[in-house]
Amino acid sequence: MDVKIEPFAVDEEEEVLRLLFEAELPTEDLTVDKLKGFLVARREDGCVIGAIGIEAYQDVGLLRSLVVHPSHRGKGLGKLLTNELETFARERGIKALYLLTTTAADFFLKLGYQVTQRATVPGPIARTEEFKNVCPASAVCLYKELAFANHRFGLDAAYSRGAQPQREYHNAG
Ligand SMILES: CC(C)(COP(=O)(O)OP(=O)(O)OC[C@H]1O[C@@H](n2cnc3c(N)ncnc32)[C@H](O)[C@@H]1OP(=O)(O)O)[C@@H](O)C(=O)NCCC(=O)NCCS
Repeated sequence: MDVKIEPFAVDEEEEVLRLLFEAELPTEDLTVDKLKGFLVARREDGCVIGAIGIEAYQDVGLLRSLVVHPSHRGKGLGKLLTNELETFARERGIKALYLLTTTAADFFLKLGYQVTQRATVPGPIARTEEFKNVCPASAVCLYKELAFANHRFGLDAAYSRGAQPQREYHNAG
């Protein structure tokens, strides 16, 4: 099966929100502006089967809304979406990602994220809707510093690249 991971397109709003809603992830603060920071995984038939988002605040970002359709879980797509989001973030000069999760802390720990105290996150992250109002106080707070070795970053890279990322992956599923 071929899957393409591409930046969110406006006509995908309904499908992405439905996927998140069915996975019981927060959607109430998700405006189209915020969805513009999402990457979306589409099957070859055009069906949306995964998504992940970032809210960028200068050099830090809130990673949010990682979801894979239940029938496509356990095949590496969640990990691939996270890796792609990290690349997308690096290319925009983001040095660290923060997130809250009630369901997937172990998933992110495997990908190099570390637990941190919610009270210690940078101000712009603490002031996001997700931190202030959406995620329960019991959610685990995680962060990851993004490595820049052998990687150009910042606005130059974002502009010189021109086209937005579009990647394909193939698996036997
Ligand atoms: C969490 C989620 C995105 C993982 O997607 P996925 O495509 O099944 O994940 P992958 O196949 O890439 O799994 C990568 C690894 O993480 C593990 N893993 C997957 N989901 C996990 C979870 N919820 N908790 C802990 N580990 C998990 C897998 O077993 C796999 O381990 P391995 O590399 O040792 O084999 C998916 O289960 C999902 O959409 N869940 C509902 C929404 C959700 O909870 N999102 C997180 C919001 S922050």
